[in-house]
Amino acid sequence: MDTKPSSTTLLALSSFLLLFFLANSQPSHDQHHNYPRKPRPQRRAIPKPCKELVFYFHDIIYNGKNSRNATAAIVGAPAWGNRTILAGQNHFGDVVVFDDPITLDNNLHAPAVGRAQGMYVYDKKEVFTAWLGFSFVFNSTEHVGTLTFAGADPLMNKTRDVSVVGGTGDFFMARGIATLMTDAFEGEVYFRLRVDIKLYECWW
Ligand SMILES: *[C@@H]1O[C@H](CO)[C@@H](O)[C@H](O)[C@H]1NC(C)=O
Ligand SMILES: *[C@@H]1O[C@H](CO)[C@@H](O)[C@H](O)[C@H]1NC(C)=O
Ligand SMILES: *[C@@H]1O[C@H](CO)[C@@H](O)[C@H](O)[C@H]1NC(C)=O
Ligand SMILES: *[C@@H]1O[C@H](CO)[C@@H](O)[C@H](O)[C@H]1NC(C)=O
Repeated sequence: MDTKPSSTTLLALSSFLLLFFLANSQPSHDQHHNYPRKPRPQRRAIPKPCKELVFYFHDIIYNGKNSRNATAAIVGAPAWGNRTILAGQNHFGDVVVFDDPITLDNNLHAPAVGRAQGMYVYDKKEVFTAWLGFSFVFNSTEHVGTLTFAGADPLMNKTRDVSVVGGTGDFFMARGIATLMTDAFEGEVYFRLRVDIKLYECWW
């Protein structure tokens, strides 16, 4: 008996494999297809927050002239940019590290209750948007401890929600949502964010 597969079998098999490959590779080419929006999934009623806090923080970005006052510095830039001035194309590729004062009101010169420390990464060419990862580090008569924030920050949105992923000290194991609002924006050098924190997990 001839055990070699016939050429028709081979042809059938290879076209099957080709189809299989095409079918599976399709979605990755199609990432930007606008699928009809599904209704948002049902969610349990949002519980009342166990703690609500409001703070402001102030970011002064180094611009080549303000090294004494700057609280933030560009530490990474794409090849077409530099670390003095935020790059074109919505600052895509710039990485900024900051150590910003946190105040209870919108006054930059009010006594700081802590520092907002971390970074943001501009991560989209087409629109002004960033990814934030930072902690509020408190060491005041009011609070001692940290709250850590992470998430996408679509800056053109009036309000943006980021996750409060955890806490230490007075904020042991805290979790919740922080709503960010740009409270002031002066050139590319100073901005002030209002942070409305709602914690839904409190262990104190
Ligand atoms: C630094 O801050 C001080 C006090 O707010 C201000 O008078 C001064 O103009 C600032 N300097 C720079 C270089 O921004
Ligand atoms: C940095 O880039 C800006 C434009 O994006 C340019 O105006 C400036 O001269 C550059 N600075 C240095 C030190 O290369
Ligand atoms: C927190 O504040 C206290 C009192 O001012 C000080 O002794 C301590 O070193 C501070 N801790 C940190 C981590 O800054
Ligand atoms: C952008 O703002 C709209 C309306 O203010 C809000 O519904 C939406 O959740 C916001 N997007 C993000 C990512 O926060």
